[in-house]
Amino acid sequence: MLTAVTGATGFLGMHLVRELLARRHRLLLLARPHPLPARARVERFLRASGAGEEELRVARTCLEAVEIDLEDGFLGLGREDFQRLADRIDVLWHCAGNVSFTASLEVARRTNVGGTRHVLRLLSAGERAPLLHHMSTVAVAGARDGGVVAEEVLDASSGFHTPYEQSKFEAEALVHRWVSEDGGRAVVFRPSGLVTRRSAHPDCPRHPLQALAQHVGAMLRRHPELAAGTKPVPLPLRAGADTNILPVEHAVYAMVEAGARRAPGGPRIYHVVNHANVPMTEVIAAVGDHFAVRVDTAWRPPTGQWDVRQALPAYACWLTCSRTYEDGNLARLGLAYPGQPVVDRDYVATALR
Ligand SMILES: NC(=O)c1ccc[n+]([C@@H]2O[C@H](COP(=O)([O-])OP(=O)(O)OC[C@H]3O[C@@H](n4cnc5c(N)ncnc54)[C@H](OP(=O)(O)O)[C@@H]3O)[C@@H](O)[C@H]2O)c1
Repeated sequence: MLTAVTGATGFLGMHLVRELLARRHRLLLLARPHPLPARARVERFLRASGAGEEELRVARTCLEAVEIDLEDGFLGLGREDFQRLADRIDVLWHCAGNVSFTASLEVARRTNVGGTRHVLRLLSAGERAPLLHHMSTVAVAGARDGGVVAEEVLDASSGFHTPYEQSKFEAEALVHRWVSEDGGRAVVFRPSGLVTRRSAHPDCPRHPLQALAQHVGAMLRRHPELAAGTKPVPLPLRAGADTNILPVEHAVYAMVEAGARRAPGGPRIYHVVNHANVPMTEVIAAVGDHFAVRVDTAWRPPTGQWDVRQALPAYACWLTCSRTYEDGNLARLGLAYPGQPVVDRDYVATALR
């Protein structure tokens, strides 16, 4: 059985590949051209993550790679090679995506929507009726500020905070249409914010909290008066605001296990989330400590010159949001995480390093 993976060189993709290799899956990495071939990048990641010789040997045996261009209708392969590739695949994990919260809608759509469309075309062409594992996100719930997000097809009535959310929503909608109208077979995973406590390393792609730290660092360089710590950074926080963060190691375990246990005809949408949200007060405290700045979280209309909605527009919604996610579908597969992951101020502080 051959399992293809797009986005295998990204943060989630690398961890997913490690989990699949541990179960001896034969993997075909569909990666865009890069000076360092995808297999070498995965091997470097495995080394940096503490893999032993046996794990590296399995990786060398079980991995092959094909260079693709996700934005091309035939994935940059030409008609014949495209068909040959399609006919080899049994399962495809579609993890490639543009995850920038600051990309324009046009740019985000090119990879997230266009790329998904081309992946679906590949799967439709395959003679083995391949199964898609589509990597969506809880962000497809868009600008819903509260309530419980259901494990079902969502509508766009709440709007979106960012082009990232909208493009991921549109990509997921393509998958649902492919299933209902073209008879495609798909499982949709919607993880929450995925992070790791492992120290940053040049061979390990960065995760969303590290991306946040990079944006905050750049913002503080633009506003030395805040970085000096002489006055607190005003971050008006709505009472009860919280977010959902899950260690990536738990997420990939749950998704691979769900892929193996799920019966055909079972639920199609799985929220992959932490059992408990983390209060934004704890996230902000950890970020404040990281940059040695004081933060004022008193809730009030923005005053003065500095407004978080202008300085960090893609993140301002985190200050008002408090929603939870239905997560019964993983539980109904009998899936319990190995130990309930606790994400708190200490965890966030370590993940930011
Ligand atoms: N990380 C999270 O917290 C999280 C949470 C929920 C859902 N997700 C979803 O999981 C997926 C992966 O996220 P991530 O955090 O792992 O992102 P990432 O680290 O930025 O990885 C993105 C991956 O997609 C590839 N890619 C990007 N644009 C491409 C293109 N035009 N053609 C081919 N490949 C392309 C990248 O290739 P290069 O290595 O060549 O750049 C990389 O392998 C995304 O779909 C995201 O929406 C992530």
